Amino acid sequence: MEMLRTEVGGLALATPLLSASGTFGHEDEMAEWIDLREPGAVVLKTVTFHPRRGNPPPRIVEVSGGILNSIGLPNEGIDHLIAVTLPRMRGRTRALVVNVAGERVDEFGRIGEKLAAALRANPGDFQAVELNLSCPNVESGFPFAKSPELAARCVRLCRDHLSVPLLAKLSPSVADIAEIALACKEGGADGLTLSNTALGLALDWRTGRPRLGAGHGGFSGPALKPLAMYLVFTAFRKTGMPIVAAGGAETAEDVMEFLAAGARAVQIGTATFRSPRVMRAIEQRLPELLAQAGVADVAAQIGRAHPPAAGAKA
Ligand SMILES: Cc1cc2nc3c(=O)[nH]c(=O)nc-3n(C[C@H](O)[C@H](O)[C@H](O)COP(=O)(O)O)c2cc1C
Repeated sequence: MEMLRTEVGGLALATPLLSASGTFGHEDEMAEWIDLREPGAVVLKTVTFHPRRGNPPPRIVEVSGGILNSIGLPNEGIDHLIAVTLPRMRGRTRALVVNVAGERVDEFGRIGEKLAAALRANPGDFQAVELNLSCPNVESGFPFAKSPELAARCVRLCRDHLSVPLLAKLSPSVADIAEIALACKEGGADGLTLSNTALGLALDWRTGRPRLGAGHGGFSGPALKPLAMYLVFTAFRKTGMPIVAAGGAETAEDVMEFLAAGARAVQIGTATFRSPRVMRAIEQRLPELLAQAGVADVAAQIGRAHPPAAGAKA
């Protein structure tokens, strides 16, 4: 439907709804429940340079307002993505976004190099790359997304090899999101994904032990939405960068709210666990809500919370 079209940093989307990395399988597992062409884009689970085993169980616990996870990025590594996952996904989605992370700064460059070679061999295999900068950095012990310098270097190393749209996925657990976002822009990011999970902890009060096998984890789900809304609103106002929202969206109303804050598209993560059909339901309801809001299309809803730029036409 024409009115649902949008675009983020050069990534053209038939609908503003994307799956959120890590909540939609590693490759085509979700095809058992839904048509992989329902999302405007499928975002794959994070792939690192080397394979990773992930964290000890339990990896997910339910808490009020959402879930806490410490999956630990288990994956088969970048070579497997290129040799197995990309061929398996070929032609099955409306758009495919590869999500990658390095455990060391230099790995972002090595991953970028491999992805560029993959695209040369099979152009069109994926339409954009999302850099998960919230991955633990084994060199410094804290995520790249906490440091403007590190975040910029990671983006730059990957950018140097890739010409497809590059989205920097940031952590909400930082003091100044605009500072990190601008560093990513300097590094060559075309847009932002705001955001990853927030740091969280759940304890078993009987034993005093963490309920997750790895201790603390990442919080996601409906209670994350106001936090993500604030990040989107602030980053839009202070950087003007194209933004994909992620955090607690469950309904078409949530999506409309994120668009108004400045997001150009919205990822659906935890809500998919409750119902894999949620994206379809949201897509079907969006035209009605656009009409209620008195706007012609998704593009007209984007950034409505912000005053028009000085000199811009009304
Ligand atoms: C179980 C689980 C696994 C996730 N794995 C990843 C991942 O591999 N890479 C990543 O960038 N984000 C990952 N995320 C974060 C989501 O993509 C999303 O940013 C976050 O959950 C907020 O959106 P939501 O509240 O709609 O779930 C994961 C989230 C969950 C719940």
